[in-house]
Amino acid sequence: MADIITGLLIISASTAFLALLLEIADRFLADYGEKTIRINEEKEFVVKGGSTLLSTLGQNKIFLPSACGGKGTCGLCKVKVPNGGGPVLPTETPHLTVDEMMQHVRISCQLKVKEDLDVEIPEELFAIKEYRVRVERVDLLSPEMKYFHFKILAPEEGLVFKAGQYVQLEVPPSELSKEPQFRAYSIASPPYEHETMGLIITKVPGGVVSTYVHDYLQVGDELIARGPFGEFCLRESEKDMLMIATGSGLAPIRSMLHKIYREGAKRKITLFFGDKKPEDLIYYDELHEFDKTHPSFTYIPTLSRTTEEDTWDGEKGRVTDLIRKYIPDNSGIEVYICGVPAMVQSCNDLLLQKGIPQENICFDKFE
Ligand SMILES: Cc1cc2nc3c(=O)[nH]c(=O)nc-3n(C[C@H](O)[C@H](O)[C@H](O)COP(=O)(O)OP(=O)(O)OC[C@H]3O[C@@H](n4cnc5c(N)ncnc54)[C@H](O)[C@@H]3O)c2cc1C
Ligand code: FES
Repeated sequence: MADIITGLLIISASTAFLALLLEIADRFLADYGEKTIRINEEKEFVVKGGSTLLSTLGQNKIFLPSACGGKGTCGLCKVKVPNGGGPVLPTETPHLTVDEMMQHVRISCQLKVKEDLDVEIPEELFAIKEYRVRVERVDLLSPEMKYFHFKILAPEEGLVFKAGQYVQLEVPPSELSKEPQFRAYSIASPPYEHETMGLIITKVPGGVVSTYVHDYLQVGDELIARGPFGEFCLRESEKDMLMIATGSGLAPIRSMLHKIYREGAKRKITLFFGDKKPEDLIYYDELHEFDKTHPSFTYIPTLSRTTEEDTWDGEKGRVTDLIRKYIPDNSGIEVYICGVPAMVQSCNDLLLQKGIPQENICFDKFE
């Protein structure tokens, strides 16, 4: 038995080593020359082959959705490649359905431009812009979360977005990464403020971009942001709303609430906000103020890790406990959920069990 395990380990290590050698050879030795990329059978441009389709398009100012910065983990950078592109790679298959593969959908951060390609890009993505932004202020919201207030330096018209959308924020090379890195961050500021942009960013232990902005970014520094992306947006409806967020998942919800109350909407809205300790309750005063000034708004925070020393007499437990407690079966509400994937999934499943149809539940997972 020990021999078999040792044999398997040796085979896996050799395969991984071989794959690494091939990747290094491909990156530094292979020269694919110039290739033509044809977009929507209309325009075409000549590019230097060898880079990923995601970054090659980006260099030509066509920006596809992406949350993980091209690591192949988010699956958001899908694009149709009807011609060229070669076989689907093992790193793409976890993100593609059989139907998508039949329709030539590819994961653009994994596919390298090694031959001429035809690419189909949805029209709305041509409106995505690159913004030059400068840090104006940084607020410490909780031990793990900071609010970054940016001024939009260019283009002049500022950032036009719908509440709920996100930007890709790029940070420069540092000791954390030799290459520039970008990740998705939901816009937390109101959509009617075009000259500025606010992001709530949680520091993830070992995380490249979140550590950079928390520990290295200074007031006055300039960065690049691209966007706006995403379809987690308010729908035209008069249904009562339930909003659920944990941690920095409050960002897009905060932007939505500012829009709703600025426009004087009277919809009944309940916000469940969950985190661990009292010091994690970001925007507590602002949300209480909304609660006091708008009779149609109810704010219910809940904490999952209080101790006897904490003077907290509010709800205890997780946001799923609040759903069980406050949401009756088959209520005709519309739901917006935002935060880490496990929380979003548990809330979604529970709401379905309570008879709320999937088409009434929108969510954004911070994968
Ligand atoms: C649409 C969208 C909107 C988002 N909006 C926000 C936002 O407004 N605010 C915000 O803070 N984040 C947001 N995120 C998450 C964000 O894009 C990054 O994933 C996060 O900041 C981690 O990036 P990093 O470079 O620091 O970590 P990475 O270097 O990418 O990851 C390092 C390690 O941490 C793990 N990891 C990644 N994220 C988490 C996490 N949340 N908790 C625990 N471990 C994690 C990874 O699996 C990896 O092992 C959003 C994500 C999406 C998809
Ligand atoms: S950018 Fe995340 S999978 Fe491609």
